[in-house]
Amino acid sequence: MGELIRVENLKKYFPTPGGMLHAVDDVSFSINEGETLGVVGESGCGKSTLGRVVLKLIEPTDGRIYYRGQDITDLKGKSFAELRKKMQIVFQDPYSSLNPRLCVSELIADPLKANRMLDRRSRQEKVYELMDMVGLSRRFAFSYPHELDGGRRQRIGIARALVLDPDFIVCDEPVSALDVSIQAQILNLLQDLQQQRNLTYIFVTHDLSVVRHISTNIMVMYVGVVVEKCEAKELFKMPLHPYTKGLLSAIPIPSIDVPRNKVELKGELTSPVEPKNECRFVARCKYASDLCRSQAPKFEEVLPNHFVSCHHVKEINHLA
Ligand SMILES: Nc1ncnc2c1ncn2[C@@H]1O[C@H](COP(=O)(O)OP(=O)(O)OP(=O)(O)O)[C@@H](O)[C@H]1O
Ligand SMILES: [Mg+2]
Repeated sequence: MGELIRVENLKKYFPTPGGMLHAVDDVSFSINEGETLGVVGESGCGKSTLGRVVLKLIEPTDGRIYYRGQDITDLKGKSFAELRKKMQIVFQDPYSSLNPRLCVSELIADPLKANRMLDRRSRQEKVYELMDMVGLSRRFAFSYPHELDGGRRQRIGIARALVLDPDFIVCDEPVSALDVSIQAQILNLLQDLQQQRNLTYIFVTHDLSVVRHISTNIMVMYVGVVVEKCEAKELFKMPLHPYTKGLLSAIPIPSIDVPRNKVELKGELTSPVEPKNECRFVARCKYASDLCRSQAPKFEEVLPNHFVSCHHVKEINHLA
């Protein structure tokens, strides 16, 4: 299983009236083929921007993006159009990402049409094949999105993402808009498809419990930076960053008497506009010191394959 995606020092800044907004600020990671990188963090921390930059739906401000070892950061024209087929996205809100004037068949066939692939008849065959694959009954082939429930609409979104036979998909909160009962169905579908087709995912969510079982590794973001990254299992067993601890203690545990140290996330989010050279979590951190206020911490390997950016990570966690 080789490396499929790697990004190095990726940055995306947006100009705003108040100055540069650091939506994604120096993020690096790699994902092996067939694996899932869960990306977690609160609203506005840069998850969607990161996903879009990796797919080159928007241009990075700085940094490099590699696909199967090839630097694709500046790739354009025909070779990029070929690559685009391999890298797809599933959006949170199938309601707004689907053209309401197209029926299910047209929606799923649309990427084929746009790429002038297959004739009309073969396209319809392909549409049925995909509907079967995503568990959407063929009787909906000529229905319109508004006639379907959220789960079925998301199945259309997934079929559209699959129709060009990609190997990498950014799933941007694909279940957040769905009823809890339907969330599990869609998550199972995404996992089955991953296994059948050896897909590689970035799975973006604000809800840690959603990515717990589907991620190989999890990356926790806070105001544009990664504060912690490790294997999914390890993150739940041994969160090291105060922010991750806070996120975890906010997850309700169904069994009642599990004793946990409640770490509350209080206080304001630091602004991503022209951020100071300080830890971005400083305003909400009970361990914050002068050092945290005067210098941004480095992202360092604290335990094997477990990276954290926190000046005081060792003291807080009683590590040698
Ligand atoms: N086109 C843009 N122009 C200016 N600022 C932007 C733009 N897109 C995103 N931002 C800002 O970048 C930051 C990150 O936004 P992003 O949508 O990536 O966050 P997110 O983690 O996906 O949030 P959510 O959970 O709400 O989807 C936010 O402060 C947002 O306001
Ligand atoms: Mg988002």
